[in-house]
Amino acid sequence: SRSIDLAVIPGDGIGQEVVVQGLKVLNAVLPQDVKLETKEYDLGAQRWHRTGDTLPDAELEALKNHDALLLGAIGDPSVPSGVLERGLLLKLRFAFDHFINLRPSKLFPNTATPLAGRPDIDFVVVREGTEGPYTGNGGSLRTGTPAEVATEVSVNTAYGVERVVRDAFERAAARPRKKLTLVHKNNVLVYAGHLWKNTFDKVAAEYPQVSTDYLHVDAATIFFVTQPERFDVIVTDNLFGDILTDLAAAVTGGIGLAASGNINPTGAFPSMFEPVHGSAPDIAGQGKADPTATILSVALLLRHLGYDTEATRIEDAVSADLAERDGGTARTTDEIGDALAVRVAS
Ligand code: IPM
Ligand code: MN
Repeated sequence: SRSIDLAVIPGDGIGQEVVVQGLKVLNAVLPQDVKLETKEYDLGAQRWHRTGDTLPDAELEALKNHDALLLGAIGDPSVPSGVLERGLLLKLRFAFDHFINLRPSKLFPNTATPLAGRPDIDFVVVREGTEGPYTGNGGSLRTGTPAEVATEVSVNTAYGVERVVRDAFERAAARPRKKLTLVHKNNVLVYAGHLWKNTFDKVAAEYPQVSTDYLHVDAATIFFVTQPERFDVIVTDNLFGDILTDLAAAVTGGIGLAASGNINPTGAFPSMFEPVHGSAPDIAGQGKADPTATILSVALLLRHLGYDTEATRIEDAVSADLAERDGGTARTTDEIGDALAVRVAS
């Protein structure tokens, strides 16, 4: 019989609240014969305050044995910036070689967005997840003096660029519109820009059915707002992808709906699914967080594990639920989770 062995890292702030709803919907959508096992890992700000640990080796090893990871959110104002981001979230992405950071953007009905009423917005950003300026290659000279010099080196390898570009071409080829846009800044970042563009053009020759396009990242931000329907699949580097996907979320329904998957398509390590949003300490513990982004991340998780029907059921439930949200009285985190759990079960 089938089974899913899931590691759950609720993390900080609203992460704790939204993960509960994600698991509620997961339980509701899975057929009887699928055995779901979950193991919660106590990682994040509280753990760090208590023990000084971000992600000890023993837990990193244990996490490797699960089929997938579901993460709520990481980060708290009481912890110095970067400690949990580098020591936990990025450590997981790097250790598990999550080179595909998949971030779909779709305009759901009835959402508060400047682009409301544009059902043609449906694109996916394939953000590179293991390289670029995220590798921690850099340093500081004469730190804290008026003569301080800081460098933050963007690392781009032929291997790393080619594997994400290939994945993006595969995804584009599988979609009805079959269009792939490379986003970079090769008019200024000439070395990395050359590697990306060259690799893109080389792989494009193997996918004649996919139409291709190139945009500088600054121009891409304009089109995200003025002409988002021009995008189908976008492939870009780690930092550009980080920025673009917050913008994509904002214009397509808000950060409360944006889902993501940190994927290792080779299966060598488990993939990790998480909402794009952060821990939102300002609203944590109040039942105000929208769990939809986490619930849509559960859909990505299910699709990754081969449960396509169940993934689609969740996405359809979210569409139907949003279509009926009246914008009047705001529902609580729990109420939204309950409503979606009921919909996916029926
Ligand atoms: C994201 C976040 C992370 C990133 C941070 C928290 C390290 O912003 O998942 O988009 O920059 O990738
Ligand atoms: Mn981000």
